[in-house]
Amino acid sequence: MPTPPDFVPASQCEILFSEQQIAERVTAIGEEISADYKDQSIVLVGVLKGAAIFLADLARSIDVDNTFDFVAVSSYGKEKTSSGAVKLIKDLDVPIEGKHVIVVEDILDTGLTLSYLRKLLLQHKPASLKIATCLDKPERRLVPIEADYVGFKIPNHFVIGYGMDYAEKYRNVRDIRLYPEIPTGH
Ligand code: IMP
Repeated sequence: MPTPPDFVPASQCEILFSEQQIAERVTAIGEEISADYKDQSIVLVGVLKGAAIFLADLARSIDVDNTFDFVAVSSYGKEKTSSGAVKLIKDLDVPIEGKHVIVVEDILDTGLTLSYLRKLLLQHKPASLKIATCLDKPERRLVPIEADYVGFKIPNHFVIGYGMDYAEKYRNVRDIRLYPEIPTGH
C-alpha cells in the first residue's frame, strides 16, 4: 500500500497569485475573447477537473454567446513521458463540428495533454480551435504547443489552488499558492 502524502496546510503555502490578481486576469482574458469572437458563438471545453473553476469564472467574463462542455483525460502510468501517453476518460457531450471551440485548461505544463486533446478535437472538424490556460510553465514543455490566452506564465514550481490539486486536495483554495515540496514527476 502506498503511504499517503503528508499534506501541508494551504495557509502555510506562499501565495503566488491572490484571488484579486486572478479575478483581474480572468476578466481581461474574458474581454479579449469577447473582442476576438464578436458576434459569434463559442464552445468552451473545460478539461476536468483542474479547469472547472477557471472555466466557471472565464465563462462569466465573456459576453458573446457561449456554451460549455467538459472532457477528462488521464495519463497512462504514473510518470508522463514524451511518448504522449494520454487517454480520454470522458468525451464531449455535444458535437463541435463547425463550432468555434476554446479548450480551457488549468496549467499548460509538458504540453502532452493539450497536444493530445487538440489532435483529438480537430478530428471533430470545429470551425476553429484555440486554447486558454490559467497558467503556463514554458520551461517544462516536452512537446511544442502554445496557448492563445494565458493567465500567467510561471517558472517550474508546483502550485495548488483555484482548481489545481495535489493528490486531489486544495482545488477549493481561492488563490494560487506554491506547494513547498514539488511532488515527484513535476
Ligand atoms: P501536461 O501539460 O500534459 O504536462 O499536463 C498538465 C496537467 O498537469 C494540468 O492540467 C494539471 O492537471 C497537471 N499539473 C501540472 N503542473 C501542475 C501543478 O503545478 N499543480 C497542479 N497540477 C499540475
